[in-house]
Amino acid sequence: MRILVLGASSNVGAALAEAFSLSNTLILVGRRVDKLRVTANKCRTASAAQVSYVEQDLALGISAVLQAIEGKPIDLVIDAASASSRYRDAEIDSNDIPRYVSADLLSRTEVMDHILQNQDIAPAVIFISTVLTLAKSPGRTIYTALKVLYAAYLTKIKDIRPDFNLLIVYVGTVIDTRKETRKPKKLASAVFKAFNNKKGKVFFGLSGIVYLVLFYLQPLLFHGVTVAQRKIRALLA
Ligand SMILES: NC(=O)c1ccc[n+]([C@@H]2O[C@H](COP(=O)([O-])OP(=O)(O)OC[C@H]3O[C@@H](n4cnc5c(N)ncnc54)[C@H](OP(=O)(O)O)[C@@H]3O)[C@@H](O)[C@H]2O)c1
Repeated sequence: MRILVLGASSNVGAALAEAFSLSNTLILVGRRVDKLRVTANKCRTASAAQVSYVEQDLALGISAVLQAIEGKPIDLVIDAASASSRYRDAEIDSNDIPRYVSADLLSRTEVMDHILQNQDIAPAVIFISTVLTLAKSPGRTIYTALKVLYAAYLTKIKDIRPDFNLLIVYVGTVIDTRKETRKPKKLASAVFKAFNNKKGKVFFGLSGIVYLVLFYLQPLLFHGVTVAQRKIRALLA
């Protein structure tokens, strides 16, 4: 397969690229070239057929990505990039919102539109999202809204292209981006398995699942407490 990996300079993107390396050709995308080089070496060690990397700030456009994929059909896009993932709404200046929209939404849809228009067979897509998109996440509206919108765009493609395989990964654990831990590798291995089993969704991280269960139980708990209060009042009356 020829695989385009967005966000390959992150620990998560690097672990995914490594997991999908065996006998495949990888095009790694990110801004930090030193990190891309490290990922490229890991992929070579993991027996990738060929590895190249592209420096591209997705907030500024996609020209370097387009140049790198020109005339080369892409079989799989692994999308682990996120400009807004480290920031809470309070840390994002209103003037910067368009930059995050470009990086986390518009550039990605542009890359996908280009690939879909220029090859007969749609590429598969693995999109790294977060369980926060499935619950109300105060303080993370910008980050989660962009993830939700891009997932909606990908889902729309799936509706009209039956040959389009989409795997959305809902990460439900905190992965420390500053140091190397085992979590990215565990995530990559779960994703690799889910992709091979043709799954459409995968959840990673027990704490995220507990978070979702509690979130969706809230109305039931509230209802239960209200009913109990009413019964106690009736008994005491
Ligand atoms: N860490 C977590 O706890 C967690 C939880 C849930 C979901 N996730 C998701 O997992 C993925 C990886 O996140 P991470 O935590 O490893 O974050 P990270 O270290 O901040 O990595 C973000 C990645 O996106 C790239 N990126 C950011 N802005 C970009 C831009 N303007 N143009 C091009 N590339 C850009 C970065 O490239 P450069 O470094 O080269 O700039 C990096 O490769 C993200 O999609 C994130 O939403 C993470």
